[in-house]
Amino acid sequence: MATVCANSQNPKVLVVYYSWGGNTRVVAEKVKTQLGSDLVEIVPVTAYPTDYSECVAQARKETKENFRPEIKTKVDNLGDYDVILVGTPNWCSTIAPPVATFLEQNRFNGKKIVLFVTHGGGGLSRCESDMRNIVSNAYFLKSGVFSGSKVSSSDDDIAKWLKEIGLK
Ligand SMILES: Cc1cc2nc3c(=O)[nH]c(=O)nc-3n(C[C@H](O)[C@H](O)[C@H](O)COP(=O)(O)O)c2cc1C
Repeated sequence: MATVCANSQNPKVLVVYYSWGGNTRVVAEKVKTQLGSDLVEIVPVTAYPTDYSECVAQARKETKENFRPEIKTKVDNLGDYDVILVGTPNWCSTIAPPVATFLEQNRFNGKKIVLFVTHGGGGLSRCESDMRNIVSNAYFLKSGVFSGSKVSSSDDDIAKWLKEIGLK
């Protein structure tokens, strides 16, 4: 049988996320705590507007144009990880542009990739399918989907999902 992970008994796990308003950060930190993994924040070179309407207007334009903003984040040792969980807010029904930049700038060949999304009612929308269009040659596990307004009480849901995908 093909070995999916370099070390499938004790996989090395990275959680990487972007968060504008803090919800996705809450989930990312809970995942990190539950798995004892490493955690990296995706930071755009130019921060998005702090005003909600301005941010939505910019996000609409960027997602429509497939714009990839520059990011400060670089994970030099990405190759060391077997499993990478990627967290994003649902922005205009897709992944936030800084996350798309991160996915495009890195190679995930042979790794397990797991998306998790926080949202304002739209759920996963096109986040997973759009991510699969950017990332090739990786193994995708079931995405985690969390309501942005309930992240502070999401511990049990996170644990259930991580168990379901075999990480706990
Ligand atoms: C620019 C922008 C666009 C959004 N678009 C959507 C959307 O299309 N569907 C949805 O369910 N929620 C949408 N939301 C709500 C966020 O997905 C939700 O509040 C999420 O938990 C925010 O995560 P964060 O606090 O980590 O940024 C949007 C929020 C912002 C700021």
